[in-house]
Amino acid sequence: MSQAAEQVVAPWWRGAVVYQIYPRSFADSDGNGIGDLAGIRQRLDHIQRLGVDAIWLSPAYRSPMVDAGYDVSDHCDIDPLFGTLADMDRLIAETHARGMRILLDYVPNHTSDQHPWFIESRSSRDNPKRDWYIWRDRPNNWVAAFGAGSAWTLDERTGQYYLHLFLPEQPDLNWRHPEVIGAMYGVLNFWLDRGVDGFRIDAVHCIGKDPTFNDDPHCAVGQPLMLHNDQPYSHEVCRGLRKFADAHPSHCVLVGEIFVRSTEAVLRYYGEQDGLHMAFNFSHLDTPWDEVDARDRIREVEGLLGPKGAWPTWVLSNHDFPRHRTSFGGSMRRARAAAVMLLTLRGTIFLYQGEELGLEDAQVGPDEQVDPGGRDGPRAPIPWESIPPHGWSGEKPWLPFPPHPSTHAAETQWQDEHSILHLYRRLLAARKASTALRYGDWEELSSPLEVLAYRRRCGEDERVVCVNFSGRPQQFPLAGRWLIEVVSEGEGEGASYDGNLDAEQALVLKRAGRESGAESRG
Ligand code: NOJ
Repeated sequence: MSQAAEQVVAPWWRGAVVYQIYPRSFADSDGNGIGDLAGIRQRLDHIQRLGVDAIWLSPAYRSPMVDAGYDVSDHCDIDPLFGTLADMDRLIAETHARGMRILLDYVPNHTSDQHPWFIESRSSRDNPKRDWYIWRDRPNNWVAAFGAGSAWTLDERTGQYYLHLFLPEQPDLNWRHPEVIGAMYGVLNFWLDRGVDGFRIDAVHCIGKDPTFNDDPHCAVGQPLMLHNDQPYSHEVCRGLRKFADAHPSHCVLVGEIFVRSTEAVLRYYGEQDGLHMAFNFSHLDTPWDEVDARDRIREVEGLLGPKGAWPTWVLSNHDFPRHRTSFGGSMRRARAAAVMLLTLRGTIFLYQGEELGLEDAQVGPDEQVDPGGRDGPRAPIPWESIPPHGWSGEKPWLPFPPHPSTHAAETQWQDEHSILHLYRRLLAARKASTALRYGDWEELSSPLEVLAYRRRCGEDERVVCVNFSGRPQQFPLAGRWLIEVVSEGEGEGASYDGNLDAEQALVLKRAGRESGAESRG
């Protein structure tokens, strides 16, 4: 590492790699077929060996589980399905002891309809908590997510409708009520006192509602409001949360889930350095394997976020979308090349459990479906051991395994240095060892259409990454001498780069010797 590179001072999350754990499907310690916190603890070795900087836990709070935990009935307790508060404390301590950070999912837009706050709120029109939620005499045309129909449900006893941008069992909180703000800040304090390092903030763009409650044109054509809701008040709430985070001794990090499919809209959640530290950008999550789409999405993020100093995030898979290998037609070769691209982009990288194993979505039969939003495929249990039941002894797991669980099991892949798991490990190690990859500038190089090529540079530290999207070999010669540091598929790491890329192959290149400046002759 060069001297200039060593001098980079940045908060821990810049350039970090965060591993998303979906607790229901990660690892089961008690044999009831559903993953739990003790199970996560037992598998921390895997995550640490992979080399990530932090984990993010999808909700494990008390919940009736209508939306798999995103319907929270107590933000400050753990659902017995997952364990106890003491289990969470141990998980936080053990994650830290292994040199990793831990982020929790914070769900501020709505609660469960079984949350004591909502039970009180719906009990009568003059209950002191009535206005903690959003009640109206008449519904407007707003549409809920997951095909749930109107975003308003009538409470027959009190004769008013309550708002829910998601399921009827997930009433929206009224963030204009000071007591709601106080209570929800209390939740943050509760977890920060227990040592967590930050939060992924669920559906944060949904918090502010149009105060006129006018009909929405998108809803008029049947689209859920959640996909478009982007009100100034959501930004005000984000600025408040950021102020809170900056003043808190933990200096926790906040990353917002912004479901609005526009990078410009996402950029506004960063504020003028007074909004969230980071925001997910989903307009890129379901991009197909295509050289033009990939270029466009990266150029757009670099072009819009870069000049504003807004730190990008990159994610290819999560618990709400088909896994990217599945979207890429099931191709392992593409999944491996995509990993090279993902882990060499400028920004903070979010991995979804199991992508390091090259998993595809599970085939979930009609009798096995659980999620009202049809998102069971990517939520399948992680196969740990090569031999059935793949580390899930006891009751049958709550969803079927992804295809070929023995081949993809973590145990099988740790024993095979050519596996996609070892590729992820090598990429993470390369990223950690290079300030260019972790913090450096991103600059696109001129290249044949089929090859996406970019340079990352920080001081004298420099890498070139080239990704061949086509099903044919391509040439991409570079001036100077370059060594292959990581190859997505095939042999060659440590060898000199000769300007040739195999079909759907991606390479990380490192300068050999002391020459500087990478110029494409392609
Ligand atoms: C986004 C979460 O990722 C998703 O799983 C959930 O259903 C909605 N927010 C509602 O909380």
